[in-house]
Amino acid sequence: MTIWNEVAPRYHKRWASEDKGPFASTKKLVDLVDIKKGNKILDVACGTGVVTKKLTQKVGKTGYVIGADTSVSAIKIAKKWNSKTSNLLFVNADAENLSFKEKFDIITCQYALFFFPNASKALKNMRKSLKESGKLGMSVHGHRDRVPYFGNILDAVTQFIPEYIPPGTPDLDRYGTKKSFRDEVKKAGFSNIIVKDFTFKYSPGNFDDYWKNYLRYVAKPIKEKLNSLDKSKRKELKEMIRENTKPHTKRNGIIQFPWEVLILTAKY
Ligand SMILES: C[S@@+](CC[C@H](N)C(=O)[O-])C[C@H]1O[C@@H](n2cnc3c(N)ncnc32)[C@H](O)[C@@H]1O
Repeated sequence: MTIWNEVAPRYHKRWASEDKGPFASTKKLVDLVDIKKGNKILDVACGTGVVTKKLTQKVGKTGYVIGADTSVSAIKIAKKWNSKTSNLLFVNADAENLSFKEKFDIITCQYALFFFPNASKALKNMRKSLKESGKLGMSVHGHRDRVPYFGNILDAVTQFIPEYIPPGTPDLDRYGTKKSFRDEVKKAGFSNIIVKDFTFKYSPGNFDDYWKNYLRYVAKPIKEKLNSLDKSKRKELKEMIRENTKPHTKRNGIIQFPWEVLILTAKY
């Protein structure tokens, strides 16, 4: 929660509000859940409201959308980013513990399942919040080998700073295969599970842009760990990452990463 409160403004500006790279998935997710006018939708871990915004445009005046997230600063941005309408509400709530009086026709959750320490509890909770005729739509990042934007840095950094990601932190790609994703959702009782994979393209610019922007984006505790390396180690690390990016670097020096995203739909 602390990290998301710090990172939310940068996340919104750099990533979520741009329909580029992995965020081309927002439109696909919204299309795949097949929204009807009048639907009541819950967007779990709505962040700065980019999915919520597209959902609201589809439900008409008779439907409504609720966006729920644990980050107060993300919700603040979501409220600004979405125009005020009486059928849209943002609440500060934890996916593992939220509960509403009414049940929903559709629940969406983009790029968040892997952050929930108890993803199974969150999924069961989502199912409890769905009508029996309801639908679930979720997206996650693919395995880190198929998301080199993260993999190229993590593979190198963890050789220099083994505890770069604090032990016990859920892996970002723990649902990064169709099987692992489907199995987790199935365990929560959902049926008719379909997982589709998409590979989007993402260009962070040249290597220096990629590394500079990564350093600008990361949360404070991570930045502190990188800063703890002495100058020569830092240089070595940078060169190792540069080497990792070579297979994705074009002749003109611009990096073009593939970025796998899995989108799942399921019924109650
Ligand atoms: C990568 S962002 C995704 C936001 C949004 N769905 C999107 O696609 O832009 C992950 C979000 O999950 C939220 N989050 C993490 N753990 C959560 C939890 N247990 N309950 C609700 N939200 C949570 C974070 O605050 C953050 O806003």
